[in-house]
Amino acid sequence: MSKQLFIKTFGCQMNEHDTEKIAGVMSGMGYSLTDSPDNADMIILNTCSVREKAEHKCYSDLGRIHELKKSNPDLIIGVGGCVAQQEGINIVKKAPYVDLVFGTDNIADIPGLLEKKGKTSNDRVSTVRRKTKYLSNVSDVTAVTVKRSHTVKAGVSIVDGCDKFCTFCVVPFTRGRERSRQPDDVCKEVLGLAANGYKEVTLLGQNVDSYGKDLGGVTCLADLLRMISDIHGIERIRFVTSHPADFDDNLIDAIAKLPKVCEHVHLPLQSGSDTVLDMMKRNYTYSGYTEKIRRLREAIPDISITTDIITGFPGETESDFNRTMDALIEIQYDNAFAFKYSRRPYSSARLYENQIPSVVGRERLNKVIELQNSITLYRNQECIGMEYDVLIEGESKKDKERLTGRTRTNRLVHLPKKTGIHAGDILRVKISSATLSALTGEAV
Ligand code: SAH
Ligand code: SF4
Ligand code: F3S
Repeated sequence: MSKQLFIKTFGCQMNEHDTEKIAGVMSGMGYSLTDSPDNADMIILNTCSVREKAEHKCYSDLGRIHELKKSNPDLIIGVGGCVAQQEGINIVKKAPYVDLVFGTDNIADIPGLLEKKGKTSNDRVSTVRRKTKYLSNVSDVTAVTVKRSHTVKAGVSIVDGCDKFCTFCVVPFTRGRERSRQPDDVCKEVLGLAANGYKEVTLLGQNVDSYGKDLGGVTCLADLLRMISDIHGIERIRFVTSHPADFDDNLIDAIAKLPKVCEHVHLPLQSGSDTVLDMMKRNYTYSGYTEKIRRLREAIPDISITTDIITGFPGETESDFNRTMDALIEIQYDNAFAFKYSRRPYSSARLYENQIPSVVGRERLNKVIELQNSITLYRNQECIGMEYDVLIEGESKKDKERLTGRTRTNRLVHLPKKTGIHAGDILRVKISSATLSALTGEAV
């Protein structure tokens, strides 16, 4: 019987995609995935460090896994992802039972680490060595098998790292400098996905809008969208995450003109106050941001726009916060992910003197969530009675009698199961009801 591997994923879509790479590399070593840690031969935590909570979660999970190791001393425990990149072998100081630590660029190195560990018996092994190019021969997808978790849609990384250094953010310190992947390598991977029946690709990066700058600026994201649009079999193209300072008319034009590029943009605003945006070093003003939204909606009237918001950033006054609330009312996002500011290592805002009490950040967060929930629900209810193309992703996890899929605007849709409908089909669906999280409808 093959050895069992349990992987827990903590972070963003890039982190989820890394889990697919870890699973691919480990399947080459005779491991197959299990969905329970209890009988696993190896457990890997693919961690996230973007907020303190996520980092704490990694250590509390490790505590529980330690209990499993007590009854199964052969259990191998690995830690990868952004906490691993940030802490390196120091993780072992807090959790001495961890066998293996690997950074975000070192997934292809896991087999070598395990071999080294075998030779040094009880020693802990680690590597968090950063690669200077996006994908060298070692880590290119041609060398790392990706074990995908979906059969219809696939994430494809196009740029790793971030050069923006927003003052609240740890990512530039975990993922390192921006490294774009060669356009040919991206297209090769998408061609392979199309040949295997995939219908949708999501181009992934911390800041996809700056794709290609480090490759001499020959190919930008809009060019890449055009190239991928030519790949037969791929029906839908998405990309995350955009940065408002880099989001330009060329990209708006590509979304408007390329039929396969979906009408959805995730454009994190973070705050509606220029003072706070300046303190965050986001490099745009609220009016500059809304001007881009105006042009986007003018070019693509049915575009769906989602965002990220931070409350309680150091120095955020009540009036700054009210500007964020006003922004949500003015922009009417289709959805927003809101977070309470979290003080992160290495980020420059951790040293700002005017830190906001946690309760204030929490109160403001609740207000943002409450307001946005009412807007999201309203926007979802606007879909009732309308028809949309829905790409069927498969059976609903909660109800085996239903199918789930997504609209081009990325709304989740449930519909009754019917014979002859398969994952990967695109159906015209008429929406009959809507909640905060999903639409329900029937194929027409
Ligand atoms: N590259 C993307 C997303 C990065 S992380 C961008 O530029 O927006 C995803 C989201 O987490 C961010 O948009 C931000 O809203 C949130 N985030 C990042 N660091 C945070 C921190 N220290 N505290 C609270 N939220 C944070
Ligand atoms: Fe973090 Fe800013 Fe880079 Fe996004 S753009 S990953 S928020 S530093
Ligand atoms: Fe988290 Fe790293 Fe992604 S910090 S959000 S897993 S880039």
